[in-house]
Parts: sequence; C-alpha cells; structure tokens
Amino acid sequence: MTASRVEGRLDALYAIGGGEGANRPALSAHEDAAHALAWGWMREAGLETGTDAIGNLYGRLRGREPGLAEIWCGSHLDSVPRGGRFDGALGVVAALEAVSRLEPGARTVTVVAFRDEEGCRFGDGFLGSRAVSGQLDATGLENADRDGVTVREALAAGGHPFTPGDGWLVPAPAAFVEAHIEQGPALAGQDAALGVVTSIVGILELQAVFAGAAGHAGTTPMANRRDAALCAAAFQVAAAAAARDIADAVVTVGSAIAVEPGAANVIARRTTVRLDARAPDAERLAALERAVWAAADEAAQAHGCEAQVDVTMRIDPVACDPALRDVLGRAAAGAPSLPSGAGHDAQVLARAGVPIAMLFVRSLNGGISHSPAESSSREDVAACVDALEAALRELTDRR
Ligand code: CO
Repeated sequence: MTASRVEGRLDALYAIGGGEGANRPALSAHEDAAHALAWGWMREAGLETGTDAIGNLYGRLRGREPGLAEIWCGSHLDSVPRGGRFDGALGVVAALEAVSRLEPGARTVTVVAFRDEEGCRFGDGFLGSRAVSGQLDATGLENADRDGVTVREALAAGGHPFTPGDGWLVPAPAAFVEAHIEQGPALAGQDAALGVVTSIVGILELQAVFAGAAGHAGTTPMANRRDAALCAAAFQVAAAAAARDIADAVVTVGSAIAVEPGAANVIARRTTVRLDARAPDAERLAALERAVWAAADEAAQAHGCEAQVDVTMRIDPVACDPALRDVLGRAAAGAPSLPSGAGHDAQVLARAGVPIAMLFVRSLNGGISHSPAESSSREDVAACVDALEAALRELTDRR
C-alpha cells in the first residue's frame, strides 16, 4: 500500500510539466500544480494545511503541547528542466507518508514543501527556505529569469505577498529532517539502501588568472615560452591531483578556459580559469583552498607566468546535528554515514540555527541526477519512509 501510494504520487508530480523528465520551474504554474497536489494529499492525511508569504506549504499533525517548537520534515517540489522523478519530490512525499502513520505526539510534526530550491529560473535558489528563515533580502527579489520576469513579479503573479523583513515568516522549528535521493554513487557502492548525512559540502568558486607572454607559435622555442594556456592546463591537472589527496574533496573546471589573445597560432598571453572546489567540512575546505592556491603558484612558476587567484563565491560547509544524526542512525539501522556533495534546503535552515539532519536514499543508474534517468528502487523508498516514521516518532516526544 505504502510503496504503491508513494510511487503513484511521485508519478503524479512527475507528469505535471509534460514532456520528458520533471518540469516544474520555480514559481511557475507547474510548481503551483505540485503544491496543489501535495496540499490535497496533506488534507487526505488529516493534516492541518497552511502556507507562508513566499508560498511554502505546511501540513501539520498537531502535537499535544502547543508551546513546544515543531519538528519539520520535507524538501522541495520545484525541479530543473528535464529533471528526475525523485529530486525534492521524494523528500516531500516520503515525509507525508511517514507522518500519515503517526499518532499525535508532544510536538507538532510538520511536512514542509519549500519553493524554488533549484535556482535554475532566477539564479540563486533556496528561495523558500531562505525566505522563511529571514535570509532573503530585497536584492534577491530583483533577480530575473530569461524572459525578464523578476522574483518579485513572479511572486505577485502567484499571489504570494512576501516582503523581506527580519526573522522568520513562521515560528522556527526545533529540528528539520530532509530525506533526499543521494544524487551520487556512494550508497550503491556500499550496497546500502539508506545513508545518514554527516555534513553538506562547502563550495568555493575561484578564478585563477595566469599572465605570460604572447609569441609566435612557429618561431618561439619551447624553452623560451611563457605560455599562459599551458600554465592553465598544468593548474587544472595539479588542482585535481590535490583534491584526490583530500577525502571527499572535489574540484571541477566546467566552463571554457578564456585564452587571450585567442588565436590558434599565437602563444597565450593570458588565461582565466574558473574552478569549483568542494569539501565536506571547514577543515578540508581550507586544506583544499590552500592546495589549489599552491597548485596555481606551482603551475605559474613551472611555465614562467604570474598567477592571481581570487575567491568569487564561498558557501560554508554545514554539519548535521550529532543528536539528530543519532536519531536517524537508530531509525535506519546499519545505514552508513556520508557527506552531501550537493546543496539542500537543510543547509539554509542550519545557517539560521536550526538543528538539521538528512537521510539519503540510494541512487541507481550510477547516481545520475537532474536527469530523467534518475532512479531509486521501490524497496529503498519504502525503507526511507519506515526510517522517517521511526525518527519522527522519536523526535515528536523529545524535549
Ligand atoms: Co533536491
């Protein structure tokens, strides 16, 4: 019953946008349709439904002691274009299924569906979780989509009266538990259905500029060159090698290296490399940052160039709450621990001081995500619901 109901609901959400994959852009009619479906399922489960000023959806199982802060469990219902069946949707549908099995405890247990986690439409993402926790300011509302529609306009069109202010839109919860498809191959590699997340990675975006000297591609001997393109290549290789030496650290050069002057028969005078570096905790992120800087210096020296490295974006890593991790560990006995390499709404709430925990569900197909090929098995999803049920039952009666 549970497994087929959860699958049916994931299918219903998946079908909303039409076409291939999940298509529920932030603050669109398709995201609204997903929220309307979830609202109906919450009512069906006997939950008390509500929304906030940005349009996040809440389904409350009222506890006996209204003075105690709530326990939240949920995720997001928007998707990337041609997204997967499970990303976000699983966290909401599984939470709903788990809560529908609970009797009221001391604390209110609330299923939450956040708006715009992905950020594909307006750029920066986590709109719902940032707004509810007082972390969305007026400048965030001026971001526009490809058609020039701003967040402010999209909110107005959807009937959401959000205006930035101080603090929470609703009372802050005592804890937030988010279930999510892993979006990676680690659990499958360990033959585990579920995993307990230790931390959500920190992200550094760096820009390295290498300055060398232009020269004739035919007449400048190799030994006499100050080739900024060769330097950029050496930097990329050295940074990747450094990341391999730090557990769970990754670096990526995913956009074109800018080469100046940019002619096939001219040695590069200047190159610009953008690098995305991630590590699961502050210590390893700091080590990775040092290693990347060292890699830039070494590459520059080896090729007679000068290096200039700047951090263009920094998101601090967030640790999951140890006590909540223990609760999930008991609820999902034997589940291994692992860091999250992707960002999630949970990290936004953590930044606002909410203790958070995350439960990952094994990804199939090599961990592919943000793709119609994203997949988890019916059995693993059922195990996720069981674990959430046990965890929420324990949390609702905890002081
Ligand atoms: Co997600």
